[in-house]
Amino acid sequence: MANLNTKNLLRAVSLSAMMAVVACSPGGKTASPDGGARPSEEAQTPAPTMAETSDELILQARDFMEPIPMDAPAIEGVTSTPELVKLGQALFFDPRLSATHSISCASCHYPGLGGADNSPFSAGFHGERGGRNAPTVYNAVFNFVQFWDGRAKDLVEQAGGPLVNPVEMASPQAHVTEQILALPGYSPMFAKAFPGETDPVSLENAQKAIAGFEATLITPNAPFDQFLRGDTNALTADQKAGLTLFIDTGCLTCHSGVNLGGTMYQKFGVFSDPGPVYLPPEDKGRGGVTGNAAEDYFFKVPTLRNIVETAPYFHSGSEPDLKRAVAVMAEVQLGQTLTPEEVDQITAFLGSLTGDQPELVIPQLPISDAKSPPPEK
Ligand code: HEC
Ligand code: HEC
Repeated sequence: MANLNTKNLLRAVSLSAMMAVVACSPGGKTASPDGGARPSEEAQTPAPTMAETSDELILQARDFMEPIPMDAPAIEGVTSTPELVKLGQALFFDPRLSATHSISCASCHYPGLGGADNSPFSAGFHGERGGRNAPTVYNAVFNFVQFWDGRAKDLVEQAGGPLVNPVEMASPQAHVTEQILALPGYSPMFAKAFPGETDPVSLENAQKAIAGFEATLITPNAPFDQFLRGDTNALTADQKAGLTLFIDTGCLTCHSGVNLGGTMYQKFGVFSDPGPVYLPPEDKGRGGVTGNAAEDYFFKVPTLRNIVETAPYFHSGSEPDLKRAVAVMAEVQLGQTLTPEEVDQITAFLGSLTGDQPELVIPQLPISDAKSPPPEK
């Protein structure tokens, strides 16, 4: 365990990291502790009340983390309506948007598997596998950027990626809109989702609709959220011990905010090199996007929401065991060796981050007719 000095140092780092979080949080809406003071009434997100409490652990946790709101958040550039969300959901589940008509967004972000696919690497076009683990789409709307290396600024931009990515859905750009136009049922859906537009069927609008749907894929009401709101009994004794360790060892330096992650980039391997299995040298993460060597091996700090459901772990999908992932994190990010009991407690705490899953009905998709183009062989 950390001695007192390390703890104080981490605490200081935590606070300055939190300032950065506040500065770059989307829409500026996040609990904004100002160096230990409790958030004021006005700074609170509205909706379910944050009960007044004198519980030290709850107050400490509230300094760095906040509950998932009960309603889908707004996203920039998208006017969300039930019609738009319905269209987005259909597109998300439609395999005919891929070149082979065999892969949809839901193939790799399966709603029944925590919004991910439980594979180290996802099988895409002709079973080809990309080089990174599929992150969950649940709560992705709260991440400050999308992808492990942040190369898409938001969900709208992100949704354009996989459709045309050669190892994911492999559709040539034009194929997507041609395909949508060739399925006559889609045109009225686009018209309803984008009222007043003369030419509503476009790749850009498809991306907006998918993003609007994804914004509804949030998992509120986890035991940890209930705890944050003031229910001291929402966590077990082990989970509370794990939360205390999560705070005191410094995990929350990086894993903070609504998503316990998704607010910053950090190097994977701050104190020591995780090695080529966890960190294959050819994937430079953020540095590969910016070309700045100082950002090599920096990755977006991933969310820990619903983490028990989304094994295997790390961008390399190389660790199937959550307990091992926790021990590795302490070792390489914080230079600390946790006891097995401490690992168990932190893992128990992570189990309190599983929220209510969205209830999805698999949509009835527009039918293919004789004129619809066949899949690529
Ligand atoms: C073949 C599997 C596959 C398909 C199909 C696929 N994805 Fe992904 N998705 C991935 C992988 C792998 C990543 C991570 C890639 C990276 O970071 O470089 C990812 C990343 C994402 C992210 C970023 C999440 C985050 O926290 O950074 C979102 C959102 C997402 N996909 C949504 C979609 C949508 C929407 C579609 C359909 C249009 C889709 N995906 C299709 C595998 C897939
Ligand atoms: C210095 C920042 C930092 C600290 C401190 C830190 N993490 Fe992480 N964490 C990261 C980054 C970055 C990743 C992504 C690593 C990668 O590239 O795969 C990550 C990944 C994880 C993952 C895997 C998530 C997934 O979806 O694959 C878990 C679990 C995790 N951290 C838990 C913890 C715990 C528990 C602690 C404290 C013992 C901790 N982290 C401390 C930055 C940090």
